[in-house]
Amino acid sequence: MTFPLKPIIKAFFDEPTNTVSYLVADPATKKAAIVDPVLDYDHKSGKANMASADAILEAARQEGYAIEWVLETHAHADHLSSAPYIKLKTGAKVGIGEHIRDVQKIFRPVFDAQDVSGDGTEFDSLFKDGERFTIGEMDVDVFHVPGHTPADVAYKIADAIFVGDTLFMPDYGTARADFPGGDARTLYRSIQKLLTLPPETRLFMCHDYKAPGRDHYAWETTVAEERGNVHLKDGVSEDDFVAMREARDAKLSAPTLLLPSIQVNIRAGHLPPADANGVRYLKIPVKVAA
Ligand SMILES: [Fe+2]
Repeated sequence: MTFPLKPIIKAFFDEPTNTVSYLVADPATKKAAIVDPVLDYDHKSGKANMASADAILEAARQEGYAIEWVLETHAHADHLSSAPYIKLKTGAKVGIGEHIRDVQKIFRPVFDAQDVSGDGTEFDSLFKDGERFTIGEMDVDVFHVPGHTPADVAYKIADAIFVGDTLFMPDYGTARADFPGGDARTLYRSIQKLLTLPPETRLFMCHDYKAPGRDHYAWETTVAEERGNVHLKDGVSEDDFVAMREARDAKLSAPTLLLPSIQVNIRAGHLPPADANGVRYLKIPVKVAA
């Protein structure tokens, strides 16, 4: 009897957006995936570069990995994805949860983004809850974990699961649930689904912000530790969580890169089509109070 090998996981932290991207490899075949890669985008100048993506690709090259997949946990609202660049360089397929269709339909009118399909065809794979696919010889199980957005998924490989924006580190809490299509009660139920996994399961966060009293970034924990998460520990009921989450979200400001991120990420990381002058523009819908 053979047991599945554990994936080799290397984390890449992007401090400007507090995002963690991962290079995940099958030790047997050296096939690999990149989870939630970041595009380095400077909003003040409108300039972008691929330094973060190149760092991951270079690490993969040094190890002899072949990148088969770019896996997005959701349409991020705080950073732009570099999925198209990685696809161009490696031939990897770009996958996301199938409910990205709902997110596209929510935001298409917001940005008058008429090129956005609403059927998810900008992506190569739309994963369903419970779907299984492979990286080399490793099985990947998809968990639909809505709440932060309607389309969030987590990817489980052997004893490791990439939870996207559901949970943060146990000393920091949980993701916001106030974006369009988000819902605190739904988020609570998705988190409970993750916490039913075996206690030794390793959880990999998409973000870290350093909790009060912690002087270093961290992104790996376990189900056992997350059962004591500051937002969820014993005695916090579903209703308590919803009240806490909604009160907290009401005080949070919009992420700095919200508007550019959504426009790019619902297009699978592509910029909007160029205007007649050949230049690509991002839009800012402006509402002036009467
Ligand atoms: Fe997010």
